[in-house]
Amino acid sequence: MGSACSGRDASSLLSLGFMLLLLVTALTALTSTVEAQAQLVPDFYKSSCPMADTLVSSAVDSALNSRAAAASGVLRLFFHDCFVHGCDASVLIDAPGSERSASANLGLQGFEVIDAAKEVVEKQCPGVVSCADILALATQLSVKKLSGGRITYTVPLGRRDGLVSSAADVTGKLPSPVASVATLKAAFSANGLSTEDMVVLSGAHSVGTAGCGFIQNRLTAATPDATLDTTYAAVLKKQCPTAAGSVNLDLATPNQLDEVYYKNLQANKGLLSSDQILQTDIETRPMVAANAAFQTFGPNFARAMEKMGNIVQLTATQGEIRLSCRSFNQA
Ligand code: HEM
Repeated sequence: MGSACSGRDASSLLSLGFMLLLLVTALTALTSTVEAQAQLVPDFYKSSCPMADTLVSSAVDSALNSRAAAASGVLRLFFHDCFVHGCDASVLIDAPGSERSASANLGLQGFEVIDAAKEVVEKQCPGVVSCADILALATQLSVKKLSGGRITYTVPLGRRDGLVSSAADVTGKLPSPVASVATLKAAFSANGLSTEDMVVLSGAHSVGTAGCGFIQNRLTAATPDATLDTTYAAVLKKQCPTAAGSVNLDLATPNQLDEVYYKNLQANKGLLSSDQILQTDIETRPMVAANAAFQTFGPNFARAMEKMGNIVQLTATQGEIRLSCRSFNQA
């Protein structure tokens, strides 16, 4: 009797121990991300590379001037980087089986903007400025340009470049354009971003293009999509008769990062299902309405971009400072 009783005690102690272990592991992960964020500061390169900001700015400006479409590409690159292992430039690795080769990343563009900035910075300050920070700065500059100078924010620096980049790690991290709203919310929440952050960051779909393949589901369904405006559907059918080709994400102001994306959603003129669903869902619909005014959307977008840029796991001596953003130092 005595021994049976102590056996039960031992097993409850064991399961309590296991739960404590899980809790400690989760808390440790959270603490390390919070600690990493705490180490990011705007003047991180003040003594090691005082010209870093200026060098990146002029290289990015001239790259965007030679190909304006790259700005929306860079903005998307940053999102796809930060959602897999944090903002550590893992998406930039150009090697078989790297994140970049994952199906969710095949349409990414704008890599040349980061390469151009890295090249200039390496000449002045070799091995000092991370690709992760260059991508964060290039994104902020792209946002500024796309918004006609109306959306600006500070970029704290000190991110380090990741040592891991695997296509397999992308699975389940980047939501699909046909995902349910619950899946969309979960993907953002897994990165410490709220549902409101998700609605605000989706405003990035106010610029750039999407491949026609991503909307065939809405155009060819047997039952017409009730959340797709019929006139807009007719236009899209003409622009996207097949999965080949691409179409503007925002039909009204495709080159302006602005609040019109939300007005489109209110008029059932969102392009992707994952856009339009924000107007259908009862929790996100009021957030769509709030952001349909630039004075709300602009500051919200700036704040949410800063927050996304803080999904950082590597700082200080972790990871490395890559010499080329496309490959690990020990390739
Ligand atoms: C909410 C979940 C999201 C889904 C399901 C999604 C999905 C997509 C898809 C399918 C495309 C078209 C890609 C292609 O044609 O290759 C796209 C484009 C784009 N996405 Fe997202 N996205 C999401 C969130 C975001 C976020 C948070 C950002 C940035 C803050 C972003 C920025 C962009 C940009 C700028 C483009 C246009 C890219 C270009 O012109 O090259 N997206 N997105």
